[in-house]
Amino acid sequence: MKKIGFIAALVLFAMALLSTRYYMADLPIYHIFGGDQGPDPPALHLRGEFVESNLGAAEEPSGAITVRMIAQQYVFVPQCVIVPAGVPVTFRITSADVVHMLSFLGTDYGLKVVPGAVTEETFTFAKPGTFKIPCHEFCGAGHYAMRGQLDVVPRDQFAPMLPGERRNCER
Ligand code: CUA
Repeated sequence: MKKIGFIAALVLFAMALLSTRYYMADLPIYHIFGGDQGPDPPALHLRGEFVESNLGAAEEPSGAITVRMIAQQYVFVPQCVIVPAGVPVTFRITSADVVHMLSFLGTDYGLKVVPGAVTEETFTFAKPGTFKIPCHEFCGAGHYAMRGQLDVVPRDQFAPMLPGERRNCER
């Protein structure tokens, strides 16, 4: 009986070690030494910029749009984002687990997303349309099913947003 307990403990230890290694392998080296001020992947939903109520499109006082998203095995949160055409859209994206890469199909735009850091890029989508957002970095068993969506609507169909309001395709 003692032997089984020992083997079980050994297996658990090995699993913990392996999952830690898998996780750490994707982190920027500075994060390992604690010098990084970026978001804490396991705590994204608890505090900071990437809590769920802050995700989606936000309108800045200048009229520019900021989109905050989380990439995680194997979804984007929110799964579908809506933005106006012809307006600079700044994406701020982080990962909850491993490295993901996304592109906006039909455009040249793409982003790499790393846990523990925020990727920021500004793109302007000149014309309305629906753009699929597939993941291009192998991130595990569900990688090939990992895709989000960006709906670009005519500017006059994108109702002005209140300060603090966040928008995605469902609301
Ligand atoms: Cu995320 Cu592949």
